[in-house]
Amino acid sequence: MTEESATSFGSMAGIYDRVRPGPAPAAVDWLVPPDCAVAVDLAAGTGLFTRALEGRAEQVVAVEPDDRMRRVLAARSPGVPVLDGRAEDIPLPDARADAVLVSHAWHWFDLERAVKEIARVLADDGTLGVLWTSRDRGKEWVAGLDVIGSPDEPRTKDQAMERLSRQHAVAMPDGAAFGAAETASFGFERIMTVDDALDWLATASQVITADLADRAAGLARAREALKGRAFLAGGTEQVSMPMRSWCWRARRLPRLQLSGGRALICRSRGPGRWRRESHLHVEASAGQKPGSEGGAMGGCD
Ligand SMILES: C[S@@+](CC[C@H](N)C(=O)[O-])C[C@H]1O[C@@H](n2cnc3c(N)ncnc32)[C@H](O)[C@@H]1O
Repeated sequence: MTEESATSFGSMAGIYDRVRPGPAPAAVDWLVPPDCAVAVDLAAGTGLFTRALEGRAEQVVAVEPDDRMRRVLAARSPGVPVLDGRAEDIPLPDARADAVLVSHAWHWFDLERAVKEIARVLADDGTLGVLWTSRDRGKEWVAGLDVIGSPDEPRTKDQAMERLSRQHAVAMPDGAAFGAAETASFGFERIMTVDDALDWLATASQVITADLADRAAGLARAREALKGRAFLAGGTEQVSMPMRSWCWRARRLPRLQLSGGRALICRSRGPGRWRRESHLHVEASAGQKPGSEGGAMGGCD
């Protein structure tokens, strides 16, 4: 991931906020611990996830490095403190947060540094929650909307799913101060105009940073695909987009336990520099509890 990609969103902060999706409400329920006093939205962007957090914790704090994104967030959530900071250097005291939540940004972090910093600001037993909310590429026509990469050939469902499973892997550095991980995913439908759907596709970092010809070819192909699925409502062409919030959570280990054996136990779990958490996974569609039938993971844009 390049710095250019990581900061590409600010160039279109207003459009980003208008067309990007918020999370499935059930995903927020699953991620935010009960009786949460302080929830930190890390890499908050324009506040799409911050707004979903408001009312779920006594105090919501947003942290975001890009001032163009922060300006939109501050205007839309005037009651939320918005701090200039990065995952690798969070401007909060030790043990201040009951939850640190990361929507659509985990893949941009320097994980070795970010995981230590998140553990520093989390209280003992606090929750680290990570999620991505995007199109459910488990359907072939939706996978084909991934417009950049090979502009002449739509991505197949299998290609899209393989790419996402790599991008959505949450791996903890050795010795990270977190317990066993759990995952869940929550499906929902998003009704939107064809034009908004195209604007949304154009907010993916790989589209923003693509060369102009690739970008135009990809978006033209996506327009045709969307029109093929469109229905007329209120005089505009609309589509019903299958969506999914894919979520991961783990608890910060109590600090006392870290002074001896626990850290060693973590280190001995897997080979190499990174260990993948063994975890539980559940899936759900809108209005259902995790564990019921669902599709694929959400998207990483
Ligand atoms: C795709 S946006 C997600 C924004 C928001 N969380 C959402 O769900 O819409 C990624 C955000 O991560 C921010 N970002 C990139 N690198 C970061 C880092 N190292 N630490 C914190 N934020 C970062 C970008 O400025 C951008 O606002």
